[in-house]
Amino acid sequence: MLLVRCCLGLTRLGPVQAQRHRVAPALASCAVRLCSTREEQRWSRRASWKHALAGLLAGTGAVLVYGLHQHKAEQAEPIAVQTIGKPPAFPVYTQDEVTSHRTLEDGVWVTYKGGVYDITEFVAMHPGGDKILLAAGGALEPFWALYAVHNSEHVLEILSEYKVGELSAEDLKKQQQQSSQSSDPYASDPERHPALRVNSLKPFNAEPPPELLADSYITPSAIFFKRNHLPVPQVDAASYRLQVDGLPGGTLTLSLDELKSRFPKHTVTATLQCAGNRRSEMNRVKPVKGLNWNATAISNATWSGARLRDVLLAAGYSPDAARWARHIQFEGLDRDASGTTYGASIPLSKAVAEDGDVLLAYEMNGEPLPADHGFPLRAVVPGTVGARNVKWLGRVVVSGQESSSHWQQNDYKGFSPATDWDTVDFRSAPAIQELPVQSAVTWPPEGAAVGDDGQVTARGYAWSGGGREVVRVDVSLDGGRTWQLARLRGGEEEVGEGREAAPPPGRAWAWKLWEVTAPLPADAGDELEIVCKAVDSSYNTQPDTVAPIWNLRGVLSNAWHRVRVKVQRDEEEEEDQDRDGQEQ
Ligand code: MTE
Repeated sequence: MLLVRCCLGLTRLGPVQAQRHRVAPALASCAVRLCSTREEQRWSRRASWKHALAGLLAGTGAVLVYGLHQHKAEQAEPIAVQTIGKPPAFPVYTQDEVTSHRTLEDGVWVTYKGGVYDITEFVAMHPGGDKILLAAGGALEPFWALYAVHNSEHVLEILSEYKVGELSAEDLKKQQQQSSQSSDPYASDPERHPALRVNSLKPFNAEPPPELLADSYITPSAIFFKRNHLPVPQVDAASYRLQVDGLPGGTLTLSLDELKSRFPKHTVTATLQCAGNRRSEMNRVKPVKGLNWNATAISNATWSGARLRDVLLAAGYSPDAARWARHIQFEGLDRDASGTTYGASIPLSKAVAEDGDVLLAYEMNGEPLPADHGFPLRAVVPGTVGARNVKWLGRVVVSGQESSSHWQQNDYKGFSPATDWDTVDFRSAPAIQELPVQSAVTWPPEGAAVGDDGQVTARGYAWSGGGREVVRVDVSLDGGRTWQLARLRGGEEEVGEGREAAPPPGRAWAWKLWEVTAPLPADAGDELEIVCKAVDSSYNTQPDTVAPIWNLRGVLSNAWHRVRVKVQRDEEEEEDQDRDGQEQ
């Protein structure tokens, strides 16, 4: 046990922790108060907190991910820091004094729960982190309300290192009154179905229970997976306008009514899948950053709206534009604390292709889009990763460049298992567009008892990106030693009269549900491992294990899906088995 005495009282460190890197900050925090010169203070802080605050105030997940990762890497194991004795008497500052510290020259101060923090050095060390300055001279709480993840013990611990004073009681009271008036940015989020398995409440991210997913070919909107990065914006349909920019003719502005009346309504059945679907399996190999999605961050719906191609043509697009334009950028109306909107882009060729089927959709499953799924308008880019299907669409831009958004540039990219957070260069990898072939078992659930009638029934989904049709699903009941062909079900039952059941080649946007019923394997023990793998029309298939495709963001997780279940035999069969065993 190492006892460090400083003006704060006694800081007690565990024996292992005392050896680790993390001792430096603890010592540094004492040094900050003991050292007499500013230079010494600077040194002691700089030595320990190099990148740690990078995510504190930034409005994007990227900075958050980098910052927290870096801190975690430095912090090999959590530390128990206990302060004993009288709390320090920090100087008291008024709000006006805090507000006068908003620049690097004057110092950058923020407040949090009555504490005053001088984060000048942190800002100076992160020159690109201009979002941090949004909170300068004011309170952190409104920014952190947007990203509940900041409100964690270790982030608070980091912040405490920068404490320089207390806010005056009077100003603190004013601040608290203001914050109770300013509403929670998520307060107007819609109600959600209780069956959803919630991965994060604010922002809301949830997936349907696997048992329900393959019950219907079309996923009911209420349980369709929901992936929001920000609060759901409230958009008034009557005053809503879509802007189409970037073409020589100038901006085309369209109301919702115009989108519905000026362009033919086109309906597409398409599966959306989040790039992070099945991330939890990568997490089991080695921790990754991101929401811990299981195997149901995927769903299938019918979408109706105007074709993006038709709208672009109305805005003045002609094949001539293909000489300079390469991408179609989408901007959402959901914004972070700094006003930055969600954004993404897709290749121009996909957007304008007659058989690309890209929609500006205003209906999902025959109803106006639900709030969580982009009301009143979203991009539906069939065959393409969920992230590019921008919801609450405000602007479409024809451009020579990809979207500059964080989610296009610094997220939703794949890397080698050899790449870690110290070596990753997001510029080196292309943004994910089409997703690889995927399948999963949705029934029976992990740990269920099967086989009491001598048979096993397994069900699931299979899908591939880029319009490649799933042509086969192989299922194994013995961990992959032997295989059976699954029965595939497309949308035949849902397809109305006069419409083609099978999609044209290259336009298989929707998943297939699969099912296998087979006798319990003769040599089955007490457990079975059910495995599935799909093959698409390009004969792509899934890798057998996760480790070789592991990547630091846990995206593109499409190894053979495995579910372990218990074998439950009926009594007669069990007796026969016992007898056989004795005779042998
Ligand atoms: N569009 C906006 N404006 N904001 C978002 O947070 N999330 C994206 C995409 N479009 C998102 C967005 C991601 S990552 C996914 S996977 C899909 O929406 C999820 O769509 P869903 O919630 O309708 O299932």
